[in-house]
Amino acid sequence: MKEFIKKLPKAELHIHIEGSLEPELMFTLAKRNGVDLPYANIDEVKQAYQFDNLQSFLDIYYQSAAVLITEQDFYDLTWAYLKRCEEETVIHTEIFFDPQTHTDRGIAFATVINGINRALNDAQQQLGISSVLILCFLRHLSAESAMNTLQQALPFKQYIGAVGLDSSEVGHPPEKFQQVFESAIAAGFLTVAHAGEEGPPQYIWDAIDLLKVSRVDHGVRCIEDPKLVEHLRERQMALTVCPLSNTKLKVFENMSEHNILQLLEQGLAVTVNSDDPAYFGGYLNQNYLALHESLGMTKAQAVILAQNSFTASFVTAQQKQKFTKQLRLYAAKEG
Ligand code: ADE
Ligand code: ZN
Repeated sequence: MKEFIKKLPKAELHIHIEGSLEPELMFTLAKRNGVDLPYANIDEVKQAYQFDNLQSFLDIYYQSAAVLITEQDFYDLTWAYLKRCEEETVIHTEIFFDPQTHTDRGIAFATVINGINRALNDAQQQLGISSVLILCFLRHLSAESAMNTLQQALPFKQYIGAVGLDSSEVGHPPEKFQQVFESAIAAGFLTVAHAGEEGPPQYIWDAIDLLKVSRVDHGVRCIEDPKLVEHLRERQMALTVCPLSNTKLKVFENMSEHNILQLLEQGLAVTVNSDDPAYFGGYLNQNYLALHESLGMTKAQAVILAQNSFTASFVTAQQKQKFTKQLRLYAAKEG
């Protein structure tokens, strides 16, 4: 199964690039930029990665991002993730970035996006990996700050496919960002939002109705509202589910309690993703493997999950067909 998953052509639709910052690169960049870290060595970093909930993770995650200063830093971070994609047969990836985490520290928006974008272009040229970049607004900050960030993004519009919403969910409902999302849609962006990770099913309804999202990030708490489950199924609204993240942040106590395959069997368009792989114990294939080991995911289910990742991606119909063909050929040979 491990080998089957490794070579399975797939897309990743929920990865925060800042969440792919491995401790080794964190130390390299800290040294390069003269930034003090609260850790003496990599063991201490790994010790610190024990979380009770989303906020306990976010506190450490935002702190670590302080080592990212230059355009080259953002390039190196993104390139390291894309090399992982190559190893894992992730042939298309849709990457979140959090500009406010950096602009609030005095790093220019252009520094962040130019570094990331250069790595994405190199990946297309050298590795054959395609990508879409998604700008996320931090929901613990004000709607005004989000609007200001949207303005800063407009000169780079050709690099950005969609806007999203992440960070502390509970207490920061979708309605807080309705106007920002209206402006983003008017500017031509698609929209997504984290909803129903820690927050209630109502936040999923509101992400769909108020923010007009094309996908829901996480969304696993939909299961508490049968009408919502039916709505998601009928509309084939994709959920970008992140199994290892959900267990590390105690959304589910154990992987054996995760509901992703239950949702899949009910006909929902669920996908598998890594969220913040450097913090949660694995990249995309490790997430697929965990579903096999703890929930008995079969090869046939893995193929459907991979198909869902292509169907729910933000590429052209023609590109989706190309991906699907590659997956079908693989499944016919190895499935
Ligand atoms: N930012 C990075 N990872 C996140 C997550 N799982 N939920 C909300 N915001 C995030
Ligand atoms: Zn996320």
